Amino acid sequence: MAETPTSAPAAPSDAAAPTTAATTELRREAGRRRTFAIISHPDAGKTTLTEKLLLYGGAVHEAGAVKARAGGRNATSDWMQIERERGISVSSTVLRFVVGDVVVNLLDTPGHQDFSEDTLRVLAAADCAVMVIDAAKGIEQQTKRLFQVARARRIPIITFVNKCDRPGVSALQLLDHIEKELGLRATPVTWPVGEGQDFCGVIDRRDDTFHRFTRTARGSSIVDDEVVPADGAGLDDDPRWAAAREEVDLLDAVEADHDPEAFAAGSSTPLFFGSAVWNFGVDALLQALQEIAPAPTPRPTTDDVPRPLEATFSGFVCKVQANTDPRHRDRIAYVRICSGRFERGLKVQNSRNGRPFTMHHAHAVFARERQDLPEAWPGDVIGVVGALDLRVGDTLHAGSAVVAFPPIPTIPPERFAAAVNRDARRHKQFRSGLQQLDEEGVVRLLQRGGVQDPRPVLGGVGALQFEVAVQRMKDEFGCEIRLDPLPWTEARLIDPEDVPTVEGDGAGVALSGADGAVFAAFPDGFQLRRFASRHPDVELRELVNTASGVPA
Ligand code: G4P
Repeated sequence: MAETPTSAPAAPSDAAAPTTAATTELRREAGRRRTFAIISHPDAGKTTLTEKLLLYGGAVHEAGAVKARAGGRNATSDWMQIERERGISVSSTVLRFVVGDVVVNLLDTPGHQDFSEDTLRVLAAADCAVMVIDAAKGIEQQTKRLFQVARARRIPIITFVNKCDRPGVSALQLLDHIEKELGLRATPVTWPVGEGQDFCGVIDRRDDTFHRFTRTARGSSIVDDEVVPADGAGLDDDPRWAAAREEVDLLDAVEADHDPEAFAAGSSTPLFFGSAVWNFGVDALLQALQEIAPAPTPRPTTDDVPRPLEATFSGFVCKVQANTDPRHRDRIAYVRICSGRFERGLKVQNSRNGRPFTMHHAHAVFARERQDLPEAWPGDVIGVVGALDLRVGDTLHAGSAVVAFPPIPTIPPERFAAAVNRDARRHKQFRSGLQQLDEEGVVRLLQRGGVQDPRPVLGGVGALQFEVAVQRMKDEFGCEIRLDPLPWTEARLIDPEDVPTVEGDGAGVALSGADGAVFAAFPDGFQLRRFASRHPDVELRELVNTASGVPA
């Protein structure tokens, strides 16, 4: 996805233009894909909701398969020791299941905010996001941050207001927060009746039905909601009912109705109220994902021209993961397919270096299980095995005409450390291990100036990233490392030609990554602002989102 090679290898023979029948099949298959990610502040209920979507989608038979409750909070998708110890999800995987005629690719984002760059990559591969809000807490900081990323990509967002069984922010207040804090028009599809302990269900504004809420036994199996026409809810004399009806009338009066166009443009969000832990509202959300969420659309390439879905195969690497499972010691690159059909053995080319690559094995990865995929379609995110040469952001394409999708947005690190190899005999492992972790995006491996530093700089957003790096270096590369903190806390992306200005000024340092990103890092905000005022011509960016062609 970086530079375009001057001489591309000859066209693979399988890159011929598709026939009409093939095009029809491709459009049908792409049309039934729904690829989305769930974003939320930690603890809002993302894991619980994921679990329940899988349960209602028929992918697991008992909730809890993803997050084992007994003895901790380790999910089956959590594969690292550190995840098991901490009970957090660091890595992300693709959960794929079929519901009705729809193929759902649920891209699991890491739960911890230290891994927000990983979330960026996942969002780059998604066509839609589900934003989970804790009804008791309203819009929280991490939701805001992730929302901004989704917004920059103009991804349509469906909002699920979770934990309605808990007392909290009133539903009308919440609408106000969404509009004021996120600048998003909220269009409730369902509306709560009662709050907290008094929560008794939702009114579905589409067909004026009442879905009654009951506290089922911990919700490990599917329970069908009791649905009755609103006038048959039997709550006529209940003050909760009167209040909810009045609010629904108000929503009708201001026409807060689902607007497909504004939703597709990312400027309005349909809202669903529920309680994931009690399985309530999960079915309605799953239905919305089938009916409202968008199927894949043509993605713009670096020349800003949308690539038709039926063009020959193309896709980009949104994530690289190595050594996920001791039984499969290898490297998987997750490829989001943007056009064409993938078949086992497909010959493609990497537009970064022009090298050919044969996609022998692609997997649908469900937690720890892998399933060999004979074919896949636009919208699918497939795990390509043995992808030693692939990096995050690479475009793979069939055919001789070079295709490149824009780079995945990146956020500057917020903390830095020098990596010190404790065992000089393991120099090779030290280098290759750090390079591997950089390519996976666990931490950024940075370099100051042209020389290879014996104590290379690592950059990350949160402390946990560094802990993971230290542990993986030890476990997977047999290499003990020490991390010495470095004094920079504010970094911005800069253009490579501004490196001499940054180094010459002395307030900060310039650090370059292997992916071509260059950062100016400063000890604090004061130094950063002083530098900015002295050099107004140097552009200091917090996030570059070239995917939509708009800097964010
Ligand atoms: P996360 O992935 O977003 O971090 O959140 P997670 O699903 O782990 O949920 C965080 C906590 O909130 C869990 O409780 C979970 O049971 C609870 N929760 C999720 N949805 C609801 C809901 O609709 N209503 C209520 N009342 N609680 C909900 P925990 O005590 O941290 O863990 P656990 O022992 O229940 O697993």
